[in-house]
Amino acid sequence: MANVKVIFGSTTGATESAAAEIAAAFGVQAINVANATADDFNADLLILGSSTWGLGELQDDWAVKIGLLENADLNGKLVAVFGLGDQSGFADTYCDAMGILARTAKSRGANLIGQTSAEGYGHSSSVAVEDGMFCGLALDDNNESEKTSSRIGAWVEKLKAHLG
Ligand SMILES: Cc1cc2nc3c(=O)[nH]c(=O)nc-3n(C[C@H](O)[C@H](O)[C@H](O)COP(=O)(O)O)c2cc1C
Repeated sequence: MANVKVIFGSTTGATESAAAEIAAAFGVQAINVANATADDFNADLLILGSSTWGLGELQDDWAVKIGLLENADLNGKLVAVFGLGDQSGFADTYCDAMGILARTAKSRGANLIGQTSAEGYGHSSSVAVEDGMFCGLALDDNNESEKTSSRIGAWVEKLKAHLG
């Protein structure tokens, strides 16, 4: 059985709910980054989630604990990211924090999986988008909460395919 870990940062609970749903699909408990240790960043598949706050910033607990990711040895490890944001209210920085997590994980040697198409979203700019693709799963409980569960379901299936 592959060792899967889901680590999230959440201020008002939206990312926490998504993390719980994702973790349940892998039969594990999600870990709040506020309580995370270096050991938690060691997994066959590491799934990292953050909402975006300020203007394009990491969620507060992630901002405090980002050193754990910056120092993790992710060489050859599978990493997937997800983000919660508001594509209408913060159209220029939609899910930027997910992009920050992806960039940091890649700088540590991670093999990033779980990219998704940015088509059909209403944002105008995001550091989480490259060549029309989000670096992970972009969720928006402010405007499209009805899509969250199906987006998570499809994404989890894609991730599971990587585990063989
Ligand atoms: C003050 C404030 C700033 C925000 N800044 C952004 C932002 O820059 N980009 C974005 O996509 N969402 C932004 N959001 C929306 C939140 O990311 C969104 O509400 C998210 O679902 C919160 O998730 P959480 O409860 O897990 O922290 C902001 C929300 C607030 C209240």
